[in-house]
Amino acid sequence: MAYRTHYCGNLGLDDVGSSVSLSGWVHSRRDHGGVIFIDLRDISGIVQVVFNPEIDSETHIKAHSLRSEWVIKIEGKVSRRPKGTENPNLKTGEIEVIVYSLSVLNESRSLPFEIVDYTSLPKEEIRLKHRYLDLRRENMQKNIILRHRVIQRMRQFLDKQGFFEIETPYLIRSTPEGARDFLVPSRLSPGSFYALPQSPQLFKQILMVSGFEKYFQIARCFRDEDLRADRQPEFTQLDIEQSFVDEEDIMSLIEDLIKDVFENVLNVSIKTPFPRITYDIAMLRYGCDKPDTRFGMEIEDLGFLSSSDFNVFKGKEAIRGINRKEMGDISRSEIDSLIEFAKSCGASGLCWFKVEENSLQSPIAKFFKDDELRKIKDVFLGEDSDLILIVADKLKVVCDTLSALRLHLGKPKEDFEFLWIVEAPLFEYDEDGTLKPSHHPFTSPRDVDLPFLSKEKVKVKAKTYDVILNGCEIGGGSIRIHKPDIQRMVFSALGIKELAEKEFGFLLDGLSFGAPPHGGIALGIDRLLMVMAGCDSIRDVIAFPKTQTGTCLMTESPTQIENMQLKELGIKIL
Ligand code: AMO
Repeated sequence: MAYRTHYCGNLGLDDVGSSVSLSGWVHSRRDHGGVIFIDLRDISGIVQVVFNPEIDSETHIKAHSLRSEWVIKIEGKVSRRPKGTENPNLKTGEIEVIVYSLSVLNESRSLPFEIVDYTSLPKEEIRLKHRYLDLRRENMQKNIILRHRVIQRMRQFLDKQGFFEIETPYLIRSTPEGARDFLVPSRLSPGSFYALPQSPQLFKQILMVSGFEKYFQIARCFRDEDLRADRQPEFTQLDIEQSFVDEEDIMSLIEDLIKDVFENVLNVSIKTPFPRITYDIAMLRYGCDKPDTRFGMEIEDLGFLSSSDFNVFKGKEAIRGINRKEMGDISRSEIDSLIEFAKSCGASGLCWFKVEENSLQSPIAKFFKDDELRKIKDVFLGEDSDLILIVADKLKVVCDTLSALRLHLGKPKEDFEFLWIVEAPLFEYDEDGTLKPSHHPFTSPRDVDLPFLSKEKVKVKAKTYDVILNGCEIGGGSIRIHKPDIQRMVFSALGIKELAEKEFGFLLDGLSFGAPPHGGIALGIDRLLMVMAGCDSIRDVIAFPKTQTGTCLMTESPTQIENMQLKELGIKIL
């Protein structure tokens, strides 16, 4: 071994007396009146190495020039640290390496930021610009290694269950998954474009038609959508599809997989089966389809107040509220900021009651009859020092506002809480009133709802299951339509029958050659990792993420393209 006999972080008392050679980075350097201490770092961790003029004066002189992040190789003897100088915060804190030979393998320019986790981090732009340095931080290395372990465990688990890992193409024809496609011009067919896959959805269904029965892939997906903390333009899914299954089969497969991954990678046991609620119940109780269930504060319906004398509540589509326990001593200015918060969610206002001496106190209490006030208190099981918050508005505004208030005021416990949201509507209206699939157009409606496909479309529920972890949607899937006539009915309901025949003729053809019943799911690996690692952004679990505006600050992509290249592709920039 030219560079090392051991890894820094693996040395311990058992190695005392051994001669070792180590290679790594100068993490820090302390000069203690003659003796120089270096924390030497490699992928396994840190060990203290000591340059003592009395051991080797030439090496000691060389050590004077060492600076942070220089790359060095040392040879030395492992020794127990003198009593009282042990470092309990370091895995190797009981030993040190007394150096007798030093080679500098490379120098480093002075750093834009320190490679440590304990001081406050530099701005994210700086971290992303110098990602090679940011990824040297212990926390980032832990996240990226955790990601590796999770993915390996998923592969092992699925292999054992008889799944085949099959790659599907990246240069494809566009598939409608709700976001905009990233397009790739074709040089060989000027004027034509490939799309990068938003997911391998259609290919995995085709693999079922081909009889593979159990497919998975660690698949990169590309979506040109507005970015948030939990969204990247390219992200990774654990993509799964299986034939001859129903919802129960896929849900229990995923429960077993998640249990296996958490137990083996994090050493955390997970209770299965995960609780399940329907989409409708989730909207009613939590105002959203990915609720954080680590705390209660469920939404209650107060529709009975529409007939009260309080004008603000009259004629409102929905009147609902939450009870924030033990917040009744909130000040007027704190209430004002809650009202501002509600307004920022689209609500026209926020009504509040404090529970004091077993009755409701509020400037608006005078507008309500005694029995109405009593009923409000009863609905929320109100007790002294509770704070009841009510929103009356359009149903969507009420749901959005209460859901956001719930998250704003809730105190989630440190835990992993999984939840299935099942039976989402097959269709929903988007902001401009167009009917859209709520998942994708290949999702099967429930059998009982088939008669409504041509009539009350929004009533149709689908065979869907989304998996939520601590309020984050970490996966979604469904049983698919496997019969071409039903697939055509869904395309017709969406008003895209002709277009679909042209765009997805290959799928309709495939389904017509004996497609088995099938279903699947995709887990968002970045989101799952974000929650597992306790991060606030998926950028912290991706080695080279993009910024909120979709740029890579390190390589400065996207970039302008030379005219020559554009000409070859037959493209003119307007
Ligand atoms: P869906 O669109 O719900 O389903 O995606 C599955 C999961 O992928 C994750 N995800 C994302 N993660 C990071 N950045 C993004 N921009 C992003 N978008 C989605 C989420 C989500 O739950 N083909 C279907 C799956 C199926 O039906 O089998 C699909 O892609 O965690």
